[in-house]
Amino acid sequence: MSEEKIIIAADHGGYSLKEALKPHLTEMGLVVTDAGTDSDQAVDYPDFGGKAAGTVSTGLFPRGILICGSGVGMSIVANRFPGVRAALCLDEGTARLSRMHNDANILVLAGRKTDPEMALRIVRVWLATPFEGGRHQRRLDKIREMELKLNEISNDSGR
Ligand code: RB5
Repeated sequence: MSEEKIIIAADHGGYSLKEALKPHLTEMGLVVTDAGTDSDQAVDYPDFGGKAAGTVSTGLFPRGILICGSGVGMSIVANRFPGVRAALCLDEGTARLSRMHNDANILVLAGRKTDPEMALRIVRVWLATPFEGGRHQRRLDKIREMELKLNEISNDSGR
């Protein structure tokens, strides 16, 4: 089996947590692509969140991790991309449910709220928990239908 790829990105509010997590992800056997940022200098989270979420949306990466100060900005950006289900997780329970019920394909962390030890616990649970399918798949199908409808509306309004 080929190794699983994962993309990770952060703004300045998530930079140090991103750096702290990377070696652990590699240790877990993941092939990590870092989409920035590369320092704690202030940047705009849509630039980095959008870059990484775009690669999950197109299927280039099966999963991603995004980190900003609160996790909110990155969540808003990521969930604009079709097919992306980004979940802001502050604890292991939410991380588990975001996989079991929502098949979340992007984990969002709050660099200014979550310490590296807790973040690592969240990441481990998130990576290890499978999607349950069944009634939850029906709900995801409805979200997909909404995405398709919204796409039709925006195509029509461009005519
Ligand atoms: C940056 O100061 C901060 O606004 C950003 O990291 C994030 O928390 C936005 O939602």
